[in-house]
Amino acid sequence: MVVLIIFLTLSMGSVCGQFPRACTTPEALKCAECCPVVNGQKCGGPGRGSCVDARLLQPKERCDFQAYDDRLNWPQSYYNFTCLCKDNFGGYDCTQCKFGYYGKNCETKKTLLRKEIRNLTNSERTNLFNYLALAKFKKSEDYVILVTNNRHHRDTYRFIDASIYDIFSWIHHYSIKPIMVNSSFTSQRNFAHQGPAFPMWHRLLLLFLEREIQRLVGDEDFALPYYDWSKDDNCTICTDDYMGANDLHGNLNESCHFSAWKTVCSGYNYDSVYCWSAPNNHTEMLLRRPGVIPGTRIPDESDVSAALQFNLYDTPPYDSSSQYSFRNALEGFLNLTDGTSQDNNMHNMFHNYIGGTLFHGPTAANDPIFFLHHNFIDKILETWISAHLSGLTYPDNDQMGQNATDCVTPFIPCYRNARLLNPAAEFGYAFPGPQDGQLTTFNPSQQTSEDTAGGAKTQPHRPCSDQDCHNVYVSSVGSDT
Ligand SMILES: *[C@@H]1O[C@H](CO)[C@@H](O)[C@H](O)[C@H]1NC(C)=O
Ligand SMILES: *[C@@H]1O[C@H](CO)[C@@H](O)[C@H](O)[C@H]1NC(C)=O
Ligand SMILES: *[C@@H]1O[C@H](CO)[C@@H](O)[C@H](O)[C@H]1NC(C)=O
Ligand SMILES: *[C@@H]1O[C@H](CO)[C@@H](O)[C@H](O)[C@H]1NC(C)=O
Ligand SMILES: *[C@@H]1O[C@H](CO)[C@@H](O)[C@H](O)[C@H]1NC(C)=O
Ligand SMILES: *[C@@H]1O[C@H](CO)[C@@H](O)[C@H](O)[C@H]1NC(C)=O
Ligand SMILES: *[C@@H]1O[C@H](CO)[C@@H](O)[C@H](O)[C@H]1NC(C)=O
Repeated sequence: MVVLIIFLTLSMGSVCGQFPRACTTPEALKCAECCPVVNGQKCGGPGRGSCVDARLLQPKERCDFQAYDDRLNWPQSYYNFTCLCKDNFGGYDCTQCKFGYYGKNCETKKTLLRKEIRNLTNSERTNLFNYLALAKFKKSEDYVILVTNNRHHRDTYRFIDASIYDIFSWIHHYSIKPIMVNSSFTSQRNFAHQGPAFPMWHRLLLLFLEREIQRLVGDEDFALPYYDWSKDDNCTICTDDYMGANDLHGNLNESCHFSAWKTVCSGYNYDSVYCWSAPNNHTEMLLRRPGVIPGTRIPDESDVSAALQFNLYDTPPYDSSSQYSFRNALEGFLNLTDGTSQDNNMHNMFHNYIGGTLFHGPTAANDPIFFLHHNFIDKILETWISAHLSGLTYPDNDQMGQNATDCVTPFIPCYRNARLLNPAAEFGYAFPGPQDGQLTTFNPSQQTSEDTAGGAKTQPHRPCSDQDCHNVYVSSVGSDT
């Protein structure tokens, strides 16, 4: 499985992406084929997988607009042939197992418990910090980053090494870059946010990180913890015992686990790489300023319950203006009280509350609080899924890369968005506690599905004014070109 990160080329920009090392040979690139030969056979041989035309995997090609973007119709700008693994096999070359499966022949199914970080045992906590240090500082065997000034000229490609954690950050950075349509960037669109794929995309990113750490350290029982912020008034894990204390300027205490971590958008290790959102050096080291930005707060339990009351997964026009949409409520654009107006809450608000590195979409994933936060978002998603098992339908929509059958950008092999809207147990993990404990009964007088469908149809897509865009986490996404 994998990933790529390739930045859209601007006149002066460059491109960088991370690829399976095995798919970066001149021949693989020339043939547009990512089907590594293992034991003499592509994709592990017929027992494990086959090399298929990616164009057949993705029937709905998007060509109804003039976009110049290597992420469209993923992964066709780079590869037209990728592995399709059989049975429980997985990975970009089918030598691994799909999520949730282990063992030489991938016959062992496990469901790992993703715990609250403060509920880890002492040894689990020690492992977590040791594993993260390895993930941050050890070179990845399997993946490399592409650096080039022009993605259209393969002879300019240069591949450089990166650690798994840095690759994880790059994937987020690559996907959050706005899409250029008709020669101008649209900040309302990217491949990972502001659309139905938002929770699916991040679910896959965390599965990727979890699996890569398991492989790196040889511990197949390692599960990513989450941080349940909903009961906290302040960041109680921002101490040296956990994620690190910070000073008034946002610098992490020297003695904390992450004080030596640098962000991939600061020139660190990747100095020739065009970095979309790092206007200056202030983000070289991790920064955190919890509660400093006026108007920010940690969403509370009533916000979580309110978000869970929206029974429709997502609604037209499937963006940050979607009304009565669980996805939009969870992402944090929706007023949870009226279900119609825009607001800054939930996922977005927590990014803003922590500030610093987590505040800016393009740098956010560099701070490991990112995965703790998104794992909690995933837990809320899981609560919603378990309450809607009979009606899990991923909506057909026009967001680029976010349609049901689109392959999640930029992972290899192809994972379809719709497939990820299923119970987490299918992917080999679960959260402790009763999943539906936080659900309150939905009050039909506030919203009916008929209202919602009608409202969504007649409600024009409200353009986002500056005032609406006070959510800096997301609006920062569009501020750079
Ligand atoms: C994939 O195939 C299409 C034609 O079907 C072609 O235009 C495109 O260049 C190919 N991709 C690569 C990376 O060669
Ligand atoms: C933490 O662990 C205790 C004891 O195992 C358990 O009762 C509690 O529910 C756990 N809390 C969370 C948030 O998982
Ligand atoms: C881009 O241009 C095409 C053709 O000029 C037009 O049909 C389309 O609506 C434009 N798309 C956007 C998002 O502006
Ligand atoms: C965080 O909240 C706890 C409990 O509400 C309080 O004891 C602690 O002083 C607060 N810490 C900060 C840094 O405000
Ligand atoms: C920062 O680290 C020092 C030890 O290096 C420790 O004494 C101090 O308590 C830490 N500060 C905070 C706020 O945890
Ligand atoms: C950024 O940091 C590098 C080294 O860390 C330094 O050489 C450079 O002058 C800094 N640039 C700015 C604009 O501060
Ligand atoms: C959310 O909606 C409620 C009810 O209409 C309203 O009172 C509140 O001011 C709204 N909040 C924001 C931030 O617009």
